[in-house]
Amino acid sequence: MTAEVIYGSELAKKLRADMKEEASLLRNKGIIPGLAVVLIGDDPASKSYVKGKQKASDYVGVDSELIELPDTTTQEELLVLIDELNNKETVHGILVQLPLPDHIDEQIVIEAISPEKDVDGFHPISIGRMMTGKDTFFPCTPYGIIQMMKSKNISLEGKHAVIIGRSNIVGKPVGQLLLAENATVTYCHSRTKNMEKYIESADILIVAVGKAHFINGDHIKDGAIVIDVGVNRIEDGSLTGDVDFDSAKEKASYITPVPKGVGPMTITMLMHNTIKSAKKKNGLA
Ligand code: GUN
Repeated sequence: MTAEVIYGSELAKKLRADMKEEASLLRNKGIIPGLAVVLIGDDPASKSYVKGKQKASDYVGVDSELIELPDTTTQEELLVLIDELNNKETVHGILVQLPLPDHIDEQIVIEAISPEKDVDGFHPISIGRMMTGKDTFFPCTPYGIIQMMKSKNISLEGKHAVIIGRSNIVGKPVGQLLLAENATVTYCHSRTKNMEKYIESADILIVAVGKAHFINGDHIKDGAIVIDVGVNRIEDGSLTGDVDFDSAKEKASYITPVPKGVGPMTITMLMHNTIKSAKKKNGLA
């Protein structure tokens, strides 16, 4: 079998065009969706992600404010800034780009963001609401992954979804969203024994470990859906995923590429969450 490629870049383009219209209608009502992005330090990958967020905001019609701070910023200074943004009327979404420098406790920062403005969906209240099936902001990468599969009318019910990686940003929440779609979910991680056994039984395989070509086609079940969340820079300077695309493509029914796969959808769902927050604040959602 040769897989159909799911281009997140194409779906993102379509969704962003719809969002642009929605934001325009809101703007006509005097509601201007506003996003504050906080970037600490000068990590090149973080800078590049933040740039993508600014570009998407400009296109969609979200007013995006970028606050760049040096990596000497103290936790206290960051918490004061978050408090200001929590209280700022024009800001509907707050995103603090992760990872943060070692001297700042990420969890304290995440918990300082008002859940009403938690467009990343990382606050424990947002996570708890997601896990209990309540309306909230879903974390952007997991939400984007679900949208990619839905765009191909892939039924998730009863499927065995195997997730490799258990980060708070991707692995754990994508499992919860799949469970809510009635998939049967298995989490694999660095201590999992006989991982091949789980990969072989996966109808849906989601790989989010951050290691170039961690998975190849060898153990992938015929017809599986393979979602590659990894973005790894290799020696020649190019970007590649956690999955060896060429060998996995011969086994899978659907596969996502890197680049042009999950990445563009993450930013798109951030736009969705920011617009949703602006609507909620104005009693429209
Ligand atoms: N770093 C990598 N992915 C993300 C994300 O989705 N949100 C934030 N805030 N930081 C990240």
